[in-house]
Amino acid sequence: MNIQGISGPIVILTGAGISAESGIQTFRGEDGLWEEHRIEDVATPEGFERNPELVQNFYNERRCQLLSGTVDPNPAHESLARLEKEYSDAVTVVTQNIDNLHERGGSKNVIHMHGELLSALCRFCGARCRIEGDLGMQDSCDSCGRTGGLRPDIVWFGEMPYCMDEIYSLLAECSLFIAVGTSGNVYPASGFVDVAGRSGARTIEVNLEPSLVKNRFEDHRYGMAGTVLPELVEEILTGTYPART
Ligand code: OAD
Repeated sequence: MNIQGISGPIVILTGAGISAESGIQTFRGEDGLWEEHRIEDVATPEGFERNPELVQNFYNERRCQLLSGTVDPNPAHESLARLEKEYSDAVTVVTQNIDNLHERGGSKNVIHMHGELLSALCRFCGARCRIEGDLGMQDSCDSCGRTGGLRPDIVWFGEMPYCMDEIYSLLAECSLFIAVGTSGNVYPASGFVDVAGRSGARTIEVNLEPSLVKNRFEDHRYGMAGTVLPELVEEILTGTYPART
C-alpha cells in the first residue's frame, strides 16, 4: 500500500519534551533543568575537570530517578514503537534524550546521539559500560582496571555527538522526518530538518509550542506529544496523513 505519499524510511528526532509526560524535566523554560543548574558546571568537559563530584551527583540523581520505578514510557514513546513495528519500511528514532524510555516503550531502532544515563565512559581507555547505580571518582573501569576515569557517558557541550555519519546517511535517505519535543536550541540536531528537507523528505514538527526552527518544517502539530503523536502515527499507518499538495 502506498501511504498517501509516504513510503520509504522514516527518521524521528526526539527531545526532552517526549519524556515530559513521563515526569522527566525538560531543559529549557521556567521549570527546566537549566534554570536550576549552570550548563557550564554540569554539561561541559571543563565543568567535570573543575568539580567532578558535582557533575557525578547531577547525573547520579537523574539515573536514580530513572530507575526509581516512578518513570515509565508514555503513549508518545509507545506510538513510535508501534510505528516501527507496523510501518512498511525502516523507522529510526534518533534521540537527544539520555533516558531509556524509547527502548522500554518497545522501540528497537534507537540512536542515542547525546549518550545514555545508564552508561559510563572511561576517560582512559574509551570503554563504555552499563551502569545502574551511582558513579563516583573512586570507581574503576572493568576494561582497563584504572580508577578515577569513569564519567557519565553523556555528550557534553563542546563534544561530538555519537553516530553522526550514520544519522546523516539516514537523513539523506528518509522520506519523512518528524521532530518531537525539542526546542531547536542545540546544534547539530536543530539542523537535521534542513538535511532531510533538502533530500526531499516531508518534515513535521510535533511540539507543545513552535520551536526555534519551526519555519523549516512543512507541517506542524502542536500539543502534548502523548496525545498528538499517537494520532499522527495512526494517520501515517492508515494512509490518512494528507498528501503533499
Ligand atoms: P528543551 O528543554 O530545550 O526543549 C523541550 C521542548 O519540548 C520544548 O520546546 C517544550 O515546549 C517541549 N515540550 C514540553 N513538554 C512537552 C510535551 N508534553 N509534549 C510535546 N512537547 C513538549 O529540550 P531539548 O530540545 O531536548 O543536551 O534539548 C536539547 C539538548 O539540550 C538536550 O539533549 C541537552 C540539552 O542541553 C545536553 O545535555 C548535551
